[in-house]
Amino acid sequence: MDQNQAKKAAAEAALKYLVPGEVLGVGTGSTVNFFIDALAAHRDDIPGAVSSSEASSARLKALGIPVLDANNAGPLSIYVDGADEADPHLRLIKGGGAAHTREKIVAEAARVFVCIVDESKLVPVLGRFPLPIEVIPMARSLVARKLVVLGGQPVWREGVTTDNGNVILDVHGLHITDPVALERELNQLPGVVAVGLFARRKADILIVGEPNGIRTLKPSN
Ligand code: A5P
Repeated sequence: MDQNQAKKAAAEAALKYLVPGEVLGVGTGSTVNFFIDALAAHRDDIPGAVSSSEASSARLKALGIPVLDANNAGPLSIYVDGADEADPHLRLIKGGGAAHTREKIVAEAARVFVCIVDESKLVPVLGRFPLPIEVIPMARSLVARKLVVLGGQPVWREGVTTDNGNVILDVHGLHITDPVALERELNQLPGVVAVGLFARRKADILIVGEPNGIRTLKPSN
């Protein structure tokens, strides 16, 4: 199967974790779009979804799935989202679509984070994909200078404004051997809104679409 078929297979496999009668969280990106399309057939089984982006909200609504306010929905059953990279411990890099701040909020609210990817996203060590960081606009240069000191090469994603009105720095050249520590350190820089590392709150289940079907991984520790 090609890459899109692999994404679709992983997305459809995530339906198995849907909890009838409970609100779920929905991520952002091309893989999740397949999940939203498949979710439409189950819309009568759930009260609705909390969405991580304007793009996903529009797709959910177009398919008749109610989009609920995160402040009113309470804890979520599952959170289904893609990733830009996943390591063997199910720690992730996300934010290629500039949506990772809201994704982090929705993931944190969910009991179980089901991540759906094709096999091109699997890496032994995070960092091949440039690490996205959402930054308040006035802090862009300050945060970029700090990132250089930390050994990264930040590149401003020019022309992109997040759903929250902020900018994105993509940090190249990182070899992230301790993602939990790096996430903590970067979160402390003034002006940083959210780092695209999902290490403290990593995925609980990783569904990988492969040429011969899907494989389901749980964290190796
Ligand atoms: C959005 O900001 C990202 O975190 C996406 O979840 C990630 O980029 C995966 O996207 P695809 O499913 O399109 O590869």
